[in-house]
Amino acid sequence: MGLLIKNAVIVNADKVLEKPQDILCEQGKIAQIAPGIAAGGHQVIDAAGKKVLPGLIDIHTHLRQPGREDKETIETGSRAAVKGGFTSIMCMPNTNPVIDNAMVVEFIIREANRVGLCNVYPIGALTKGQKDEELTDMAELKAAGCLAFSDDGKSVLNSRLFRLAMEYAKMLDVLIIEHCQDPLLTAGGVMNEGVVSTRIGLKGDPGIAETVTVARDIEIARYLDTRVHLAHMSLKRSCELIRFAKSQGIKVTAEACPHHFVLTDEACSSFDTSTKVNPPLRSQEDVEAIKQAIADGTIDCIVTDHAPHTKEDKEVGFDGAPFGLIGLETSLALTITELVLPGIISLTQMVDRMSTAPARLVGLTNKGAIKQGYDADITIINTDKEWSVTREGFVSKSKNSPFIGRRLKGMVEYTVRGGKIVYQP
Ligand code: DOR
Ligand code: ZN
Repeated sequence: MGLLIKNAVIVNADKVLEKPQDILCEQGKIAQIAPGIAAGGHQVIDAAGKKVLPGLIDIHTHLRQPGREDKETIETGSRAAVKGGFTSIMCMPNTNPVIDNAMVVEFIIREANRVGLCNVYPIGALTKGQKDEELTDMAELKAAGCLAFSDDGKSVLNSRLFRLAMEYAKMLDVLIIEHCQDPLLTAGGVMNEGVVSTRIGLKGDPGIAETVTVARDIEIARYLDTRVHLAHMSLKRSCELIRFAKSQGIKVTAEACPHHFVLTDEACSSFDTSTKVNPPLRSQEDVEAIKQAIADGTIDCIVTDHAPHTKEDKEVGFDGAPFGLIGLETSLALTITELVLPGIISLTQMVDRMSTAPARLVGLTNKGAIKQGYDADITIINTDKEWSVTREGFVSKSKNSPFIGRRLKGMVEYTVRGGKIVYQP
């Protein structure tokens, strides 16, 4: 028995198929797309009035397992992912132990399969223990299942080591995702350095901590003619550097998070520690530039940087709180509400930035589109349905969201992974 999605308005990155189709999923794949497929013995979803998208893919999530299961586990993170419409997520290696050896990779994949909700692809660390001293065995990690490598949470400051990593990544054809933030410039800053930090008396992290690293990485990518992917870009100036590099044919790609195109550093004046994030929330000018860069393709994809932290960890003074906010359950609705409905990007562009481009970046060749023969990973949404973000509504183990209390438009109606319904409200 397969799964039959009836009356589907299919939104792929290249076009919207306005004429409703039926989609038959069998053995984990999209077996047929046509109008009027007979129900047979199949399980049926009626998608009339909804939009049917390729399953969303988040290439930047923190799942905290192993090591901080009080913040999130592979199981609770997977539940949050499918509720947010994600069928595949990639988890960052800043766990304890760090994802720097095949055993940890295998453990995560095994646990994700046991949970069986979404695909989880571990991201390997670039340096052993994320200590910025010695490279990991990237070939071994790739063989174990890593599609990308990063020391996310911090930059690889050692430029020689970073160059070497880029050379290995070129040979192995894997993506390097760089967290751009020079800690010598950040120097203990806890929010964006600017008029707001001065006014409220918190130590500022200057934008140059990001942009000098962006510039370095672009130069190394140019020199080696290698790909580099820049994580969570937060500044107008970063977008300008990336746009220029792309115009020169340099193989740089980049991502941005909803909190960086929705919130400004003004949000920190509430002293709500869920607004404390790395890189920090920036100015209105930066917010506008990030939106523009997502629209014109300078920013290739939207990621969550889902960073769960417990109430205990976050309920301290702003200076002492850890950086990070959760994003898996609000990312789609924030993108619809703030980018699609105001006409900044189209629905097809949203599909590109949240599914097709991420799949292409990490080489998931059977994902990112609703096409015959592709994996049956499908997200069915209602773009008009309004809902309120509440603390109780989150299924993530952590609740550190600065969006609690917001009304958003765009609701996930079904998440289908490998032809099976894994989420329904
Ligand atoms: O705010 C952040 N939190 N930024 C990062 O890069 C890491 C993340 C975390 O792991 O909590
Ligand atoms: Zn991160």
